[in-house]
Amino acid sequence: MYIGLDLGTSSLKGLLIDEKANIIKSKSVSYNISYPKPLYSEQDPLDWLNAVKEVLKYLSQTIEDDIKGISIAGQMHGLVLLDENDNVLRPCILWNDGRSKDECNYLNNEVGIDILKENTANIAFAGFTLPKLLWVYNNEREIFNKINKIMLPKDYIIYSLTGKFVSDYSDSAGTLYLDVKNKCYSKYILDLCHIKESWLPKLCESFDIISNLKPEYNLKNAKLICGGADNAMAAIGSGVINDGDVMLSLGTSGTVLISSDKFINPKNPSMHSFNHSNGKYLLLGCILEAASAYNWFIKDILNVDFNVNINENILGENKVYFLPYLMGERTPHNDMDAKGSFIGLTPVTSKEDMSLSVLEGVAFALNDSIEIARKEGIKINNIVICGGGSKNPLWCKIISNVLDVNVYKANTEEGPSYGAALLSYISINSKNVNDVKSLIDYKLIEKPDNLLVEKYKKKYQTFKKMYPALKDIFKEL
Ligand code: XUL
Repeated sequence: MYIGLDLGTSSLKGLLIDEKANIIKSKSVSYNISYPKPLYSEQDPLDWLNAVKEVLKYLSQTIEDDIKGISIAGQMHGLVLLDENDNVLRPCILWNDGRSKDECNYLNNEVGIDILKENTANIAFAGFTLPKLLWVYNNEREIFNKINKIMLPKDYIIYSLTGKFVSDYSDSAGTLYLDVKNKCYSKYILDLCHIKESWLPKLCESFDIISNLKPEYNLKNAKLICGGADNAMAAIGSGVINDGDVMLSLGTSGTVLISSDKFINPKNPSMHSFNHSNGKYLLLGCILEAASAYNWFIKDILNVDFNVNINENILGENKVYFLPYLMGERTPHNDMDAKGSFIGLTPVTSKEDMSLSVLEGVAFALNDSIEIARKEGIKINNIVICGGGSKNPLWCKIISNVLDVNVYKANTEEGPSYGAALLSYISINSKNVNDVKSLIDYKLIEKPDNLLVEKYKKKYQTFKKMYPALKDIFKEL
């Protein structure tokens, strides 16, 4: 038996699979995010660890000795700092935190994007680890001076479970101190930003076996396999591993991931150039709110428990638009001042129109990444969809028509945790990562309809004019 964990933003999810990769059991434990100030987003690493312990206990109950492998997919970019006694120095600053605007300006404008791209492959975004570390240097020097270890969220769990201080390339790619192309830390960036290499974990591949767990976890036959970034691991769980394969994930964040055999240096640097968990590369476009924007509107604003009923006949006719920038935006705008907005309201606007506009707004925002990739010459006709939002068939239909793609689903939408479970199965049995393809079945769930595609093309052109028109106003809010 094998366990896959997904250290998400809203919860820790775990899956148990058997030797045929069938899911036997699953469990999810939620934890809080705190927003102590505007643009701040933090979590307590001890909450994650408690959730991991609870999920491991539940999944392994009565079969402790049968568990052979455990692996982890983790929310990316989080800054976890430990002192010399391994105490957590401050709450983790998360991937969707926007406090490091000044540090991003310094990196992108003073150091310069050419230097950053040359040394790391990427530019600075507020959510990336390095600008947040510089923020700690500039604003919490007493904490910075106590740093003994810097780790990403899943690496903190690996360290707690095994005592091994390691990280993989797919997750480290999002730090902005990894040289993505050459798979090593960038000495130039470390020196520039006062970082000692001894503070950083040893680098390995996502599929590398790290070690046994500490005896206190009572899983004596289990080995820990490093695992990786949640997006790359979701791609493993969705079989998105061949050159040109595309995955779209509708989780707290929304991402478009394009698997690539070769390193890609995109002309438009709002697409991230990262490492894949299969040892190769990927391109990633990321929006900071996807399923979370819809949940916010349905639960917090409309105060209903379930989906609003939307008549499919109104697709393509909606006059209301929604910009999903509730937490600012990454791809394509790289602007933490951007705000969520409804545009086009009239006295006859209904809940249905507004709910639909949220689904459409997220689809348009993800189409920005698709458009950039197509301009880079990448052909995109098919996508594999995953994440909580993919359980909504209407959303899948909207995505298919806005992006003009066939939408496929793999046997499970639980991309990251399933990817982690598959990776541990693959590594323990000395198989190749590419073997996951044979363990995954796909279903075509949506095909674009020409008429609707044309309607959405026009609407997308209108959507694209909205952010530039509001950009300066957002700064004043
Ligand atoms: C990717 C990103 C998000 C998080 C969500 O760059 O920031 O997708 O990984 O967990």
